Amino acid sequence: MEANPALSDRGRRVGKVHLVGAGPGDPDLLTLRAARLLMSAALVVHDGLVDPAILAMARPGARLVSVAKSRSRHTMRQEAINALLVREALAGNDVVRLKGGDPFIFGRGGEEAEACRAAGVPVEVVPGVSSALGAAAAARIPLTHRDHASIVSFVAGQCKGLTDQDWSGLAGKGRTLVIFMGLATAGQITEKLIADGLAPDVPVAVIERATRADMRVLRAPLAGLADLIASERVQSPALIVIGAVTAQGDNTIRALAWDTALNTTLDTGALEAEL
Ligand SMILES: C[S@@+](CC[C@H](N)C(=O)[O-])C[C@H]1O[C@@H](n2cnc3c(N)ncnc32)[C@H](O)[C@@H]1O
Repeated sequence: MEANPALSDRGRRVGKVHLVGAGPGDPDLLTLRAARLLMSAALVVHDGLVDPAILAMARPGARLVSVAKSRSRHTMRQEAINALLVREALAGNDVVRLKGGDPFIFGRGGEEAEACRAAGVPVEVVPGVSSALGAAAAARIPLTHRDHASIVSFVAGQCKGLTDQDWSGLAGKGRTLVIFMGLATAGQITEKLIADGLAPDVPVAVIERATRADMRVLRAPLAGLADLIASERVQSPALIVIGAVTAQGDNTIRALAWDTALNTTLDTGALEAEL
């Protein structure tokens, strides 16, 4: 993977850590660079959002290490993940660190890159299609639209001290707000936004498992968001999109199949030959 590998103080080869965005789910949304690295890597350290169809593209015999996290149960703490990447690289191994969406959007990619740099480990960052962009495209919701929104904001809904965070002005006329990890706090989010002056009938879309075969797109007015999530038993991963743009597209469909023409099994052999 490395033309001129870095060397440690003792003259030993140091591996490189590739922080690779795996996109929102559909393997077709991987970048060519991500696919190429994945198909050649001996070691892939991945989080739980990476679709099994993407992991299946790893080369036969590659070591796949899951460091999946969930809201309530951390399989591996972030410090331990950082230490694992550094340890493997200092042992001379190149690492593909595969992360859902884009590594630098709510993905802790910045922390992993800092840990590597601090240990003298070279890092490459391969951007991915963030779920915000993939989900919006799959649901046919334009995040910007000349008639409806010229500003888009991304926020995390499960942050500590949610009520203390200043979201004022992020949603409202001419704006689209995309909320990651907001299912469990949807009630608080709704109260917070309405307290900030947002109308209770502002349209909202919830996009669950975007770009996967079982993707759902659900719509409600802001005041009905928490009830919608509860009654439809929306599961993670899901995004909440707030603003006039969510009323775009076909409002009659609640469950929307991702384009099956795109969602076919990737012919990795053919791709490998091209690359
Ligand atoms: C830790 S964040 C990682 C975000 C990721 N780095 C990105 O750029 O999309 C995880 C959250 O991303 C959102 N997410 C990721 N994949 C998704 C998908 N396929 N459909 C809907 N939301 C998704 C959900 O809000 C999920 O809780």
